[in-house]
Amino acid sequence: MLDLIAELSPPAPVPRAKALGPISLLRVLAKNPLEAWTSSHFEKPIVISGLSIGRVAVVNDPAAIRRVLFDNCENYQKDWLQRRVLSAGLIGGLLTAEGSNWRMQRRALAPLFARKTVMNFSAAMMDVANGLVERLGRRQGEVVVDIAVEATRVTLEVLERTIFSDGLGRASEDIRLAMKSYFDTIGRIDPFDMLGVPDFIPRPARWKLRPALRVFESAIDTIISTRRARIASDPDNAPRDILTFLLEAADPETGASLSEAEIRANILTFIAAGHETTANCISWTLYLLSQSAEWSQRVQSEADRELGGPLDGLADRLVLTRAVIDETNRLYPPITAVSRVAIGRDELAGELIKPGTMVVIAPYVVHRHRALWAKPDKFEPNRFLGAARETIDRFAYLPFGVGPRICIGATFAIQEASIVVAAIVRNFRLEMVSGCTPWPMQKVTLRPKDGLPMVLGRRSS
Ligand code: HEM
Repeated sequence: MLDLIAELSPPAPVPRAKALGPISLLRVLAKNPLEAWTSSHFEKPIVISGLSIGRVAVVNDPAAIRRVLFDNCENYQKDWLQRRVLSAGLIGGLLTAEGSNWRMQRRALAPLFARKTVMNFSAAMMDVANGLVERLGRRQGEVVVDIAVEATRVTLEVLERTIFSDGLGRASEDIRLAMKSYFDTIGRIDPFDMLGVPDFIPRPARWKLRPALRVFESAIDTIISTRRARIASDPDNAPRDILTFLLEAADPETGASLSEAEIRANILTFIAAGHETTANCISWTLYLLSQSAEWSQRVQSEADRELGGPLDGLADRLVLTRAVIDETNRLYPPITAVSRVAIGRDELAGELIKPGTMVVIAPYVVHRHRALWAKPDKFEPNRFLGAARETIDRFAYLPFGVGPRICIGATFAIQEASIVVAAIVRNFRLEMVSGCTPWPMQKVTLRPKDGLPMVLGRRSS
């Protein structure tokens, strides 16, 4: 296999020389927002423009990012666009909550995703990864597999196993189907939202969403009440999964526990925020490995050595796998941009920010910014190893965001991706189907347009 990536940069749109006009911009944003960025976004510390949705400041300067997401974060609220796109069914959960309710929930939910809790999920993650290897291995000879589909299946299964470790109950297939149609629908940005059409105008995609949401919500309610009864009658034998932790969660400051609606919203939130993001991370990682003989060799040797060992601390020992995942999240961050709206006046990178300005921090742009990275478009996992890693500015690498609203599931996602990638690479040689080059497309998350068709061959060892 040629080490293509040593010479080539992985596929990505070439930044535009000039900004698009308003109509073309809307068209491109609806199709693939990644194709709207201009060269100046990748070169300047801040780019301010006036769009139909108002004044927008794209901030790349690490000190200014620190100000928005950390030092002065009280001045920057999650904006209406992000909340509207993401909020169907998730209202009341951690991702969309604000102010004191968010603080209470974050404190109560932090232990669910603490390192120690997440490490206890290694066995479930390994089991699901082994299931995938077995499923793929059953096919005879070299077969074509859409790795993006498999990765999505795996991440959904991991969430199912870690949230509801005793299963989804009798109607599991119905729930799974409802879940799929639900997430397919919220995966589409509605052009009405981009145009700033008010909420009372019905969105066609939302109509489609309603039946799936109802099936899904009522199923989850049944699961919650069954579990609550089980915890009450036999607390010692209740499964130690995310559902039990949610039912037991309490704000350490006030002792307040989560309401029934908040528990349901957070289950939906964890699935919505955790499954496609992590699936894309796994998919792009496997794609980049398929393009680099050197790195697939290194990751394979590591997997051969470590996967047979103890599960305890496994992800920590997959150092090279982790470096490749970190580099993948740099080049193809599953969440390409986060946004906030300025409440009061501020100054960012020397520019005045007026109240109401939408501030966009785009990991996709920051991670490829000419002033922040050497050879920004090249795949080079060594950046994340040893002393090199220490030189990366905390506010220039933010696949999981930064500050108080940093992704609560980051440790979970990295551990899961490390285990799944290592298990696949240990067992299979991966090669893109000849003539296919994946194209990064942003549909809420950054996914390979038309999937990731790969030829899988069993490794002989
Ligand atoms: C590679 C996988 C993932 C990526 C790239 C990712 C990325 C992000 C980012 C960028 C944010 C911050 C959004 C903002 O500041 O506006 C975020 C927040 C969040 N993520 Fe993740 N995420 C991933 C996996 C997960 C998983 C596995 C879960 C849960 C099981 C999860 C749950 C959440 C939640 C609940 C929030 C909101 C936190 C808050 O506002 O306090 N994420 N994620």
